[in-house]
Amino acid sequence: MSQNAVGIASLALHLPPLALAVEELATLRGAEPAKYTLGLGCKTMALCPPNHGVVEMAATVAERALARWEADGGDRDRIALLGVGTESALDMSRPLSAFVADALDLRGALRSYEVKHACYGGTLALRQAVEWRLSGAAQDKVALVLAVDQALYAEEDPGEPTQGAGAVAMVVGEPTVAAIAPISHPWSEPAFDFWRPVGEAFPRVQGQLSLDCYKRAVEQCFRGLVGDRDAAAVLGAFHALCFHVPFPKMVKKGVFQLGEAFGWSEADTAALYRDKVEPTMEWNQLCGNAYTASLWIAVARALAGLAAGERIAAFSYGSGFGAELLTLTAGPGAAAAPWRADIEADLAARRLITSDDYTALRAAESVAAE
Ligand code: COA
Repeated sequence: MSQNAVGIASLALHLPPLALAVEELATLRGAEPAKYTLGLGCKTMALCPPNHGVVEMAATVAERALARWEADGGDRDRIALLGVGTESALDMSRPLSAFVADALDLRGALRSYEVKHACYGGTLALRQAVEWRLSGAAQDKVALVLAVDQALYAEEDPGEPTQGAGAVAMVVGEPTVAAIAPISHPWSEPAFDFWRPVGEAFPRVQGQLSLDCYKRAVEQCFRGLVGDRDAAAVLGAFHALCFHVPFPKMVKKGVFQLGEAFGWSEADTAALYRDKVEPTMEWNQLCGNAYTASLWIAVARALAGLAAGERIAAFSYGSGFGAELLTLTAGPGAAAAPWRADIEADLAARRLITSDDYTALRAAESVAAE
């Protein structure tokens, strides 16, 4: 790893304190449970109670990342950039980062801002932090990057079983956890595949278009990475391939698109999916779609336990649409993976609610929104 390498110096995760099994939702909606479990690949969705929304999730995960970093000798005075990727903004003007800065008492000589591009916003905030460090403008300062979202659809919307929530925090500076390669592979096309008009509480989705856009973005970004080389050899060199996870079946479709584009047999594509992709979604299946945080939850799972020098790829997608493929190299801090404890603690503390509790929670939200 080069001496000037930039990457993740500290990593933390947070899931909110409620969850609903998709089988419970299926019973409530009169759907076949197998449609949600086998058809979509979902297990449980994380949910936020009224007193623990995006600000509380962001503050919790940021505190965890900072405490871990400080225990390793980090110093909060070095934070000169606070970037928050979200599509759960509380205000059209005031950035979510200002609410987080209030909670953390971060003020002074720093840039604090929110980045919006559907589920791609967290990755954009991360890339900005990485490129700021690489440019030299950061000098010895570091960035705190957050990706936080609560994904809710209208009740009875076909997307309802894919709901979820979660937050990821990364201190971007020395590549103790993982180095992020300076070169990445973006792809963007304007589309209305998934959007939420101003003043509306829930997204509008064109499911088939969204899937088509996602698959096209996967193919184009991976073509950018592979170039003229042999695709199987290039991808085979990665320990894991992480994807933005709206729901696991969508990722599987993206991987099979790759197989088709590169002319692999179905068996080879299935083996790649089984060995290098499916294991990365273990935590995503427990929290559902966390929009901006989804990819980085998969990345955190993939990095956990890696020896220094092992590489992973990370495909980010945000409707509208923008996508980017990043590559990361595990640093010395990946093997111990202290962020596993975040997931274990949150899973142990969270309460699995019934379909009646869920109905009451949704009713309370609609009253609060009026
Ligand atoms: N047992 C097993 N599988 C079943 C089943 C059953 N009883 N019933 C249905 N299925 C499968 C279907 O075959 C389908 O799988 P396939 O696509 O591999 O064929 C899957 O379950 C979903 O069924 P479908 O009829 O397509 O569901 P739907 O019309 O209710 O749509 C979503 C549900 C989630 C796919 C759709 O709402 C969507 O695409 N949502 C948004 C996408 C998104 O999140 N975009 C965000 C930006 S990336």
